[in-house]
Amino acid sequence: MNGFENKENLTILAIESSCDETACAILKDGVILGECISTQIALHREYGGVVPEIASRNHVLDVGRVVDKAVKDSGINLSDVDVIAVTKGAGLLGSLLVGVSYAKGLAYSLGKPLIGVNHIRGHVAANYLAHPDLPLPYVGLIVSGGHTALAVVESKTKFHIVGSTADDAAGEAFDKVARVLGLPYPGGPEIEKLAASGSPSVPMPKVKMKNPYDFSYSGLKTAVINYVHNAEQKGEVINKADVACSFQNAAVDMLVDNAIALANERGIKAIAVAGGVAANGKLREVMQEKASRNSIQSYFPPKKLCTDNAQMIASEAYVQLRAGAELSPYTLDAKATLPFE
Ligand code: KG4
Ligand code: ZN
Repeated sequence: MNGFENKENLTILAIESSCDETACAILKDGVILGECISTQIALHREYGGVVPEIASRNHVLDVGRVVDKAVKDSGINLSDVDVIAVTKGAGLLGSLLVGVSYAKGLAYSLGKPLIGVNHIRGHVAANYLAHPDLPLPYVGLIVSGGHTALAVVESKTKFHIVGSTADDAAGEAFDKVARVLGLPYPGGPEIEKLAASGSPSVPMPKVKMKNPYDFSYSGLKTAVINYVHNAEQKGEVINKADVACSFQNAAVDMLVDNAIALANERGIKAIAVAGGVAANGKLREVMQEKASRNSIQSYFPPKKLCTDNAQMIASEAYVQLRAGAELSPYTLDAKATLPFE
């Protein structure tokens, strides 16, 4: 019991700082009142990826302004907030610590309770903001820069993981392939843009796993690297759009086919996708098409709630508080790795 299971007008202020976005959102009774998000993408782009030290420093610079702006945007007073929520993991430790320390200071100074939130569960909870009526159980496909998992979601707080990746996470594979093609960070949106003008003419290996619900991206990544190197050695110019399109199609097919196979095997009629890669238009299109052919309904958060944000953290805190989850002590620590099952 946490005392907020049935609280009317339950108001949550949530902070997210696990990677390169500093964000805050205010949620009242399951509805977002205001938010602010500051992205550091431009700062990290020149290094080809997130530099942890630079990320932590910029969270320190941004967090106060972001929280103030979200509060102003929501039209509430800080005294109206019931609980302060914050991402406690998984993520970059230095980045997480900025959000956790700020949240603790804010909670302590206001005399409000604190709840630490699991970032990956937050990605999943983004779907509840857009689809509060999402039917349970559903198949959850979680595809971010650090995680790839297929789960049976029995209730909003109970997951059973059935498949995961043997190597790279889906988003990581997009980022690595983008780098091979000389595209900037983050690679996922760049691959998607380039693939739109390409055709799937580059052969990609079919991935076969012992557990049919597992994923593997190393084969696709190696196929792209070999293709690019062979062309370089022969002095041939490659069509980057074709490479991007071929890779994206193969990566998307693997995600969609595994999720649909699991739904069919379990007789589940809903699939919900979450995480940064869920912003991918091809994934959204192919999932919707194949799911409906199998009489399955597919759900995605709005694109801007797929990548890191604080609305999803507020949503997950709301789920946890309503379910009676324990509050966190003011000694809450951040964790770089955190299981979410
Ligand atoms: O969920 P997220 O914002 O951060 C993590 O928790 O990891 O995911 C970031 C990942 C990056 O790898 C990025 O390239 C990928 O999501 N991503 C995309 C797209 N937008 C972001 N991948 C494919 N297509 C996109 N449109
Ligand atoms: Zn994330």
